[in-house]
This record gives sequence, structure tokens and C-alpha cells, in this order.
Amino acid sequence: MLTRRDFLAASGSFLPAAALAGAVQDAAPPLALPPLPYAENALEPHISARTVSFHHGKHHKAYVDNANRLVAGTDLAKLGLEDLCKASAGKKETAAVFNNAAQVFNHNFYWKSMKPGGGGKPAGRLAGAIERDFGGLDKLLAEFSEAAKTQFGSGWAWLVSDGSKLGVVKTGNADTPLVHGLKPILTIDVWEHAYYLDYQNRRADYVKAWIESLANWDFAAANLGT
Ligand SMILES: [Fe+2]
Repeated sequence: MLTRRDFLAASGSFLPAAALAGAVQDAAPPLALPPLPYAENALEPHISARTVSFHHGKHHKAYVDNANRLVAGTDLAKLGLEDLCKASAGKKETAAVFNNAAQVFNHNFYWKSMKPGGGGKPAGRLAGAIERDFGGLDKLLAEFSEAAKTQFGSGWAWLVSDGSKLGVVKTGNADTPLVHGLKPILTIDVWEHAYYLDYQNRRADYVKAWIESLANWDFAAANLGT
């Protein structure tokens, strides 16, 4: 299990300059709004088409547009999404770039973290790693749910890997494990725009439905790798 201390320690190891000099390995700029991996109504009744439409078509799109506008004409415009997040993290002068770019990354990851008919149990290597690092799926889900429910204000709960073990972390606002030396495996968005139209203030009900009916363990397993 990753502790908060582990998480904070990992965050201190990041060197933005290294990312700036690094090769662009992900999608070429300008950033694009990826299409949803399913129809807008495919997550019903757990998340409505109206929520998905606003969330993807308005909120997510705005992050893409803002990030592209903010980096236009700068060296940052040469970076792909992940390098852009890393290069702009933790610096006052690029805080606005980070807030938008990281939200693009987080949302790209969020849509793929869900699928119609999701939930259930992971299989294969991921199932073994969950057993090893949490003592079983129920314990992971309890920890993940608690992180999602207790993230104060806007943010995210994540299943992550530090390269040798799985852990659960939560991040505030646009912050993302990507810039803290952690590999994202699965995420739930707990900004109010993700659930308010369907659940109002009942975040716990959204989190429960998400875990039981939408969590995409195939995506998580692919992120962990073989
Ligand atoms: Fe969101």
C-alpha cells in the first residue's frame, strides 16, 4: 500500500527540465479531444447521457481548448500531452497550463476507466497483484471508495502502481499521479460536474454505482501490463 508519505516523497523526485528535454512519445500537439469510447448514453442508468454530454463536450473540451491556447507559440507547444503535464507541473508560471493539460490527461484516462457492463472482478496478473498488495479485491475497493468519497472538494481517486506495488491515492483539482512518479491504473472523477446532474450531493452513491457497474478492469489490467 502506498502511504501518503510515499506519495509525497514520489512527488519530490520529479524534474521538469528533464521532461522538457525529453522526446515526445505521446500524441503530437495540438492536443485533441478524443472521442468517447462508447455512446453518450452507454453508461446509463448509472451516468446519464446528459452528464456525459456536458462532461465530455463542454468540460473536457474546454480543457483541451484552453491548454492549446495557453501553449500556442511557446516551447511547450512542441510537447505531447504527458510531457506537457510533467513540464508544467509544480511551477507557478505554468500553473494554468498544468491545470488544463493535466485535466485533459485525467479525463482521457477517466473515460477509458469506465465501460458499459463494467464492475465485477479483475482477472490475471492484476487480480494477483491486488491480492498481494491489498489482501483482496474487497479491501482495494473499500480503500478506493474511501479515497473517492473523502477527497475534499474537486479531484480524483486513483489506483496506481509505483513500479513494484499497487496503491490508492487521491489528488485534488487537476493534480495527477503522472507527475508524482506513479503509473495510473484506473481513475474516478469526483469533481461535481461528473455526477451532480444525476446524484446531486450524493457522491457516495455515484462512487458505489461506478465501482459496481462501470469500473473497467480490462483497461486497468492493460495499464498494469503483463
Ligand atoms: Fe471531470
